[in-house]
Amino acid sequence: MNERPKELKVLFVCLGNICRSPSAEAVLRIRAEQAGVSLFVDSAGTGDWHVGQAPDKRAIAAAATRDIDMRDIRARQVCTEDFSRFTHIFAMDQSNVAALMALRPQGGTTPQLFLDLIADPVICEVPDPYYGGQEGFVHMLDLIEGATQSFLRSLS
Ligand code: 4NP
Repeated sequence: MNERPKELKVLFVCLGNICRSPSAEAVLRIRAEQAGVSLFVDSAGTGDWHVGQAPDKRAIAAAATRDIDMRDIRARQVCTEDFSRFTHIFAMDQSNVAALMALRPQGGTTPQLFLDLIADPVICEVPDPYYGGQEGFVHMLDLIEGATQSFLRSLS
């Protein structure tokens, strides 16, 4: 007898949950919908400084140029339940992976670097754009879009 496929639940994680991971959440949500793929997607930060806040205005503006709406997203901090709730946990950089591994209960979903999906020998992390200019947010979105396409291709 065929087992019912497990529902895909994807969590993106960065440091503050106001720039990279909410952008990845919004991009995957819309690209999956456009591809007819059903999944649950969320994001969280390893830190708690921005809990309850909307994404950074620069991230909202960069996403808006691609018709991606992220105004309803609010920051939250990652919690131990996330490791059993989510089938995939994608981190934006190595320090996020280290923070997640320190929290991960035994048997919980293992976090992986999101950009490992594109297997680029040069870039394996989504750089933190917080202290830079708008161009950093555009670059961030390009990297996220590429890894999102790889992820969706891996499902088909
Ligand atoms: P994120 O960017 O991790 O991509 O959301 C940051 C947002 C805020 C801070 C650092 C990174 N911060 O130091 O407040």
